Order: sequence, then C-alpha cells, then structure tokens
Amino acid sequence: MTPFLAIRDLRTTFHTRQGVVRAVDGVDLDVMPGECLGVVGESGSGKSVTFLSVLGLVKPPGRIESGQIRFDGRDLARLTPTELRAVRGRDIAMTMQDALTALNPALRVEEQIVETILAHDRLPRLAARSKALDMLRLLGIPDPERRIRDYPHQFSGGMRQRVMIAIALACRPRLLIADEPTTALDVTIQAQVLDLIAAMRRDLGMSVVLISHNLGVVAEHCDRVALMYAGQVVETGPTRAIIDRPRHPYTQGLLRSMPVLSDLDRPLVPIPGQVPSLVDLAPECRFLPRCGQAAPECRREIPLLSMGEAHAARCIRVAA
Ligand SMILES: Nc1ncnc2c1ncn2[C@@H]1O[C@H](COP(=O)(O)OP(=O)(O)OP(=O)(O)O)[C@@H](O)[C@H]1O
Ligand SMILES: [Mg+2]
Repeated sequence: MTPFLAIRDLRTTFHTRQGVVRAVDGVDLDVMPGECLGVVGESGSGKSVTFLSVLGLVKPPGRIESGQIRFDGRDLARLTPTELRAVRGRDIAMTMQDALTALNPALRVEEQIVETILAHDRLPRLAARSKALDMLRLLGIPDPERRIRDYPHQFSGGMRQRVMIAIALACRPRLLIADEPTTALDVTIQAQVLDLIAAMRRDLGMSVVLISHNLGVVAEHCDRVALMYAGQVVETGPTRAIIDRPRHPYTQGLLRSMPVLSDLDRPLVPIPGQVPSLVDLAPECRFLPRCGQAAPECRREIPLLSMGEAHAARCIRVAA
C-alpha cells in the first residue's frame, strides 16, 4: 500500500547562540491511508517539530535543512507558503499542543468554529452554528449555547484544547495531526475526545497522527506506533508487536518504566540518565549513554531504521 504521507530523512534545525540544535535529525515516517499512527517520545524528542515541519509551520531560527515530505504526489518541503496554506486548510489539520497561542484571542469561539465550518461546507450560517454547538457538546463542553459566545481566554486550558479540536475537525481534513490533544484533560473527557476523533476517522476515512508522551494512551487508540528519541525515530511497528515484543532498548526501557493495570505489584524501573543535548551530537547511537545493552560497535556507527520492515528498530544490536 502506498503511504498517504511519507517523510524521508527529514532534518530540521534551530540556529541558536548556543549552536545548531538538531531537533529533527533524519526522521523517516509513513502514515497509511485511514490509519491512526501514534508518535511517542520523551519531552524534547522532536515530535512537535517533525509535524510542524510537515505543515511548513517551523518559525525562524528554525528551518528545514533537507528531506522529503511526500503527500498526495507532492513534496510538501518544496511548496510555496501559499500552496502550503491551501494544504493546511483543506487536507491536513493540526491541533497544537499550546491551545492558547493557536486560537485567535480577538474572536469569539463561535466565530472561529462557524467560519471554519462555512469554509468547508456549503451551509446556511444557522445550520453551521448548530453544527458547532453539536461538536462542542460531543467534546463535553458544558452549556455550549452560552459558552460559544465566550472568547478563548474565558475558557480553561482543557476547554481551549477541545475548541481547537473542534476547529480542526470542522475542516474535515483527510489527515488530522493531534499534538498532545488530551494532556490537559481529565480521564473521562480524554476518552470522549479520543472517541470523537475515532468516530470522525471512521466516518470520513480520515488518517490520524496522535502525538503523545503517554504510550498507554497511544497503545489503546493507534494501529501503529513510532517511538522518537533525540530527534530520530528509533522504532516503528504495529502497536501489539511494539508492546509485546519491543526491540529497541529505549522502547524496552519505556515499557519497564510504565505501570500496567493488570500487574500493579511489578516494580517500575526508570531509564537511567538523561536525553542528550541536541547540539554537538557525536556520530554514534543517540541512546548509547543510557543503554544497558550497548556494545563497542554502537560507538562507531549511527544505526539506521529500515523502512522496508513492518516492525523495525534503529539499533545495530537488533539488526545483527
Ligand atoms: N524555537 C526553538 N529554538 C530552539 N530550539 C527549539 C525551538 N523549538 C524547539 N526546539 C528544540 O527542538 C527539540 C524538539 O522539540 P519538540 O518541541 O519537537 O519536542 P517534543 O517531542 O514535541 O516535546 P514535548 O513532549 O515536550 O512536546 C527540543 O530540543 C527543543 O528544545
Ligand atoms: Mg511537543
């Protein structure tokens, strides 16, 4: 099957006074038609910057150095800002991690959702308004008739996040990129939001990228998972295979550090050490300083991820 979105060797850097931050450093990722791909990794691993790059939303001092972003027969990395804006409005929608900066502070929530619906559906304004109310209701916003008249700053963080999801879904995108969509939400609302995204996925045949630092949330909702570490994808595969047979020492460590409901007595083992600085990276495996299974050859080469395999790990010990 041809991927819907195919990212190859994507490199995005930030030129700062401290040096060049290699935030995304050779990322390969596929999103298949209709699938939900989970992207998981510790804070700072490059999840957001990868997908901001896909949509041309990286701001200076950040820039895409190289790589391909194939979507619908085009390379998004080569499009003009105007062409990219059309893709963002029509084909791909992204909900930002930081809802407050993503929403327009000067417009009532009503205008922001209704205008988006009207831009995508030929509807009378009243029908668009009632659709907007339905969406807010589905997303668990209490008293939507009153709240829709409010401005974003009058909403709580979790409510703003849901307004942003409503706007993204109102675009009826072919691909939804949801960056930490449920981080600020309590567990019941979290389930409601993820259920709505799943329903839209079924109804519209929409593909979804769900970005989260929580492997548990991702495992429950995604067909496949990609794990990111220090600006690179270190393992990809079907969700079940990743959970049952993790191959990369980082994935194995992440699973050992997570509580499992069925076995709450199991001791949790954190991954020792810290994520490396993304400035002045040595030409060796990024995970080496924290890896309990490293061998001398791990210091001599940067392992690659084989995109030809359904379940692949960026580790020469696994490939060997
Ligand atoms: N404007 C910027 N200037 C300099 N460095 C930046 C900038 N934006 C991001 N970075 C760096 O890029 C790297 C990747 O950041 P990114 O936001 O993609 O991480 P993330 O995986 O989304 O983390 P989180 O889970 O915290 O959202 C980090 O090291 C971050 O410090
Ligand atoms: Mg992020």
